[in-house]
Amino acid sequence: MTQHQRLLIIDFGSQVTQLIARRLRELNVYCEIHPYQNVTEAFLDEFKPQAVIFSGGPDTVTREGAPKPPMSVYQLGVPILGICYGQQIMMQQLGGLVEGGKISGGGGTAEFGRAFVSPAGEPLSILKDWFSAGREQVWMSHGDHVSRLAPGFEVYGTSPNAPFAVTGDTSRNFYAVQFHPEVHHTPNGRKLYENFVRLAGFRGDWTMGAYKDEAIAKIRAQVGDKKVICGLSGGVDSSVAAVLIHEAIGDQLTCVFVDHGLLRLNEAEEVVSMFRDHYNIPLIHADETDLFLGELEGVSDPEQKRKTIGRLFIDVFQKHANEIDGAEFLAQGTLYPDVIESVSFSGGPSVTIKSHHNVGGLPEKMGLKLVEPLRELFKDEVRALGRELGLPESFIGRHPFPGPGLAIRCPGEIKRDKLDILRQADAVYIDQIRKHGLYDEIWQAFVAILPVRTVGVMGDGRTYDYACALRAVTSVDGMTADYYPFTHDFLGETATRIINEVAGINRVTYDITSKPPGTIEWE
Ligand code: XMP
Repeated sequence: MTQHQRLLIIDFGSQVTQLIARRLRELNVYCEIHPYQNVTEAFLDEFKPQAVIFSGGPDTVTREGAPKPPMSVYQLGVPILGICYGQQIMMQQLGGLVEGGKISGGGGTAEFGRAFVSPAGEPLSILKDWFSAGREQVWMSHGDHVSRLAPGFEVYGTSPNAPFAVTGDTSRNFYAVQFHPEVHHTPNGRKLYENFVRLAGFRGDWTMGAYKDEAIAKIRAQVGDKKVICGLSGGVDSSVAAVLIHEAIGDQLTCVFVDHGLLRLNEAEEVVSMFRDHYNIPLIHADETDLFLGELEGVSDPEQKRKTIGRLFIDVFQKHANEIDGAEFLAQGTLYPDVIESVSFSGGPSVTIKSHHNVGGLPEKMGLKLVEPLRELFKDEVRALGRELGLPESFIGRHPFPGPGLAIRCPGEIKRDKLDILRQADAVYIDQIRKHGLYDEIWQAFVAILPVRTVGVMGDGRTYDYACALRAVTSVDGMTADYYPFTHDFLGETATRIINEVAGINRVTYDITSKPPGTIEWE
């Protein structure tokens, strides 16, 4: 998408580099993250950034061979913002001095956590409207610190332990901060980025409306008059990809929806009716419930369940895809975080949780080329694009649902009757959450049916039915999570409804495990 103004983020390995990109995208600025090793002079010539940001990083610039950007970045004549390690490397390269803090064995001050920055010197454009009440909360996380500024730099903000908290050379538009403006604990950090991109002349031309039109043109150019297959899971990513591609090439697209019989109440019908009837997208509904549940009979080990489902999914998908004559392309809902993950210099934690249900490996096996229209987008941008494409809000805002479906919410052996009970209970629980207006506050909520029966009493009779666990968590990315603090009233009311409305359950528990040490799903 070269027609957009572009900002380059050079990644030195910070845990939070992605958040910088998120903040900028929220400001409608197109940016890309590239690991520092890939950023050569030739790369800079080609990329033509209108501004550059240096991320933080775990290394120390005092070490021989520490990560550096090429010196030519300072000759581009564009504004540069250095963050934490980015500040330190900028100072060192431009003639200042950086010393190790206590943590790395030097005599200076390491600092981790909340700090307050106060203004110093002249007002600075990137700090416009930034300080409230004379000082501003920021998040510090550094062992080393700048001990002498590079020539041309002045101090514009200080904190008790960071005399060079905000520095800048206004004649060259180089700015550097010791703290992390991208994290949540720097509550006004967005303002700083906003001031920086304004100063760099960004017009905010990155919107999902504009992206949609460009993506459609790009898909048409890539695919020509050939056919495309898209695996539809009912999740947001594959659905948005499918609708976008359908807008671009119409009936040259066929979707394959592998229904493993482990979906939620009415889910398969909803997916089929939305795509086939509402969007008129050619759709193969591969109802393979018997195959999947048959092979899962007697299987209670979680890994074996996942592997069985993954293997069957690929087989079934391939069988149906082979029926589509002359298909040359396979569409995938790959997102930008997956792309960053695969090019990141540290490798990063790999996203293996997803590998089972995508069709990885299939494109080569079937001789298909990939169409990945969401490769440049974050999840929230995919949702915004979905809205542009007219997908219903109730669909776009849905909680994530794992590829192996209800199989991993049914610890122990999977039985059809247990799945039916689970579906009913889950529907009541989600209905409760929606009725109480809590759905959007929660990252994910579901019921797990437990492999135990317990004794109860209803009316005058004894019952001996399943126990279930309610799960609800808040999270930003699913990597860590906290359990949701429902009120006791809510929990009590929900338990009563489930026991009254769902035959087969006579006991309800609430799972109050966070992640870590738990995981979100039960298996
Ligand atoms: P866990 O249980 O690992 O889940 O804390 C983190 C997030 O990932 C989802 N999840 C999966 N998603 N295929 C998926 O597409 C899977 O095999 C899978 N396992 C877990 C889970 O629902 C949560 O959002």
